[in-house]
Amino acid sequence: MVSAPLVADKAKGSAPVEIAVRDVAVNFGPRLRALSGVNLTIRACEFVALIGASGCGKTTLLNVMAGLVPIAAGSVNVCKTPPRAGRRDICYILARDALLPWRSVLGNVEYGLEVSGLAREERRQRALAYLDRVGLQDYRDFYPSRLSQGMRQRTSLARAFAVARSVYLMDEPFSALDSQTKLILHNQLLDLWESSGATVVFVTHDIGEAITLADRVVVLSRLGTGITDEIEIDLARPRSAEALQADPRYHDLYRRTWTSLRESMK
Ligand SMILES: Nc1ncnc2c1ncn2[C@@H]1O[C@H](COP(=O)(O)OP(=O)(O)O)[C@@H](O)[C@H]1O
Ligand SMILES: [Mg+2]
Repeated sequence: MVSAPLVADKAKGSAPVEIAVRDVAVNFGPRLRALSGVNLTIRACEFVALIGASGCGKTTLLNVMAGLVPIAAGSVNVCKTPPRAGRRDICYILARDALLPWRSVLGNVEYGLEVSGLAREERRQRALAYLDRVGLQDYRDFYPSRLSQGMRQRTSLARAFAVARSVYLMDEPFSALDSQTKLILHNQLLDLWESSGATVVFVTHDIGEAITLADRVVVLSRLGTGITDEIEIDLARPRSAEALQADPRYHDLYRRTWTSLRESMK
C-alpha cells in the first residue's frame, strides 16, 4: 500500500501552501525585538525542521504559528486563516509532555478523541490502534507516573496523531531523551506522519534529528532576523533512522547543515 503523504511527496512543490509567514516581526516590550523580517512558506504534507542558535526565536516563531504570540508586523496564515489559540486543526507538542496524570495511557489517548466527539467504541479502537503503532498496547492501563520519559512522549505522539490534525507544531519534543530512545521515537514519528498527510514544523537543536525527519531544514539567524538557509533533504521515504546512519548522503547533509548553522550564528 502506498500511503497518501508518499504520493503527496512527489507533488509537494505544487501542493497548496499550508503555512505562510510574511515579513513577520515580534516584540517583547519596547526594547526586545525577538523576530524581524521572517519569511517562510510551508506546503501541505511537508515536514520542516527549524534550527538555529539558542535564543534566536524558534519557539517564538512556533508560538506565532499557533497564534499564541501577537505579531508586531507582517502576516501569518495557517490553512489560509490567521492562527489563534485553541484552533482544532493545529496541534502543539512540547518537550514537556502534557499528559493528564489522573488518566491511564489509554485514557490519555482517548482524551483527544473525546474532545473531538467520537463515539465511545470508535474512540477506544482508534486509541488502541495508535498505541499499537508506538508499541504501547501492553502499557495501556499504566498511569503516566509509572512511565519512562520515552514512553510518555510515545503516548503524547499517539494522542496527537490519533486526532488527525492538519498541522503539528513540535518544539524540541525529544530533547530530554537519550540517543537510543530518540532513534525509536524518530521511527515511530516517521511512521505516524507518513500515513497522516499532516504538515509538521519541528524545532530541534539536533542536526541528525532534523535530517532524519524532515523534507527541508530551515535555519533561523542568530538574532531572529530572517531565514538564512534552507536545505532540501532529498533522502527517499519511507526512512529508517538506523539505515540513514549508514547512508553517506546523510553525512554529507549533516556537514552541509552544520556549516550553515555555524554561519547563522555569526
Ligand atoms: N515571553 C517573553 N517575554 C520576553 N522575552 C521573551 C519571551 N519569550 C521569549 N523571549 C526572548 O525572545 C528571544 C527568543 O526566544 P525563544 O523564541 O524562546 O528562542 P529559542 O526557542 O530559539 O531558544 C530570547 O531573547 C528570549 O529571551
Ligand atoms: Mg525554544
